[in-house]
Amino acid sequence: MFQIGGLIVFCGLLAQTNALLEGLPLSLGPAVPLTRSLPLNPVLPSIPTDLAGSLTSALTNGLLSGDLLGILKNLPLLDILKARGDNSGGLVGGLLGRVTSVVPLLNNLIEVTVTDPQLLELDLVQTPDGHHLYVTIPLGLVLNVKMALIRSLLRLDVKLNITAELLTAKDEQGKTHLILGDCTHFPDSLKISLLDRNAPLPVQSLVDSLTGILVNVLPELVRGKVCPLVNGILGSLDVTLLYDITHKLIHGLEFVIKV
Ligand SMILES: *[C@@H]1O[C@H](CO)[C@@H](O)[C@H](O)[C@H]1NC(C)=O
Repeated sequence: MFQIGGLIVFCGLLAQTNALLEGLPLSLGPAVPLTRSLPLNPVLPSIPTDLAGSLTSALTNGLLSGDLLGILKNLPLLDILKARGDNSGGLVGGLLGRVTSVVPLLNNLIEVTVTDPQLLELDLVQTPDGHHLYVTIPLGLVLNVKMALIRSLLRLDVKLNITAELLTAKDEQGKTHLILGDCTHFPDSLKISLLDRNAPLPVQSLVDSLTGILVNVLPELVRGKVCPLVNGILGSLDVTLLYDITHKLIHGLEFVIKV
């Protein structure tokens, strides 16, 4: 295929050369240089390094080697939920509007374990001015909840996005660094659903109550673990990668291209 293409280009150039020779003063004499410069092994245009891709994989690898999945698996959820039940001085009740139903619910928790922790594909978004980068870190896990009230294990599918802002800042010496700005979760970035779809209705209302509590506990807990990890990864990024990203952000150059 390539040879045929090359031949066509070659013939085309010859035709062009002849045309030039016919129409132009001979002094230009383009025939020899043109044919000589025809690349037999054309050099491919250098592929620009995929900065966004490199950053995404560096962050992903950093999170995984920082044992993100182990951290998710060992979230002390039962303790935290129990503590809420013991001294929910109106807080949980206030949020849910019914203190009487929540406290017994929490006190009935026997076990809360995390299985199937997952790090899904990171997503990068650059602000329109090019100076800030938002990294979405999508996490997934399954909560297995055992309660005294019901015999069966409740399995909840949890999806949570943590969003980390990356930006540049100068230190006292005027050196520019890539730093972690806001590291947060947006209110609608937590989704909890019951895995067993055929659960009877009372179970669904338990799940609703539990969800109401988890919304106030889980994102904060996860954020507190993930954000320091991201911060640590930024500090140990490859120097060239760091330089390239910092350069782009300082000058507001777009390097995250959305398809
Ligand atoms: C998390 O972010 C991804 C990509 O930005 C999005 O597709 C997904 O719906 C989000 N998930 C939640 C739970 O908000």
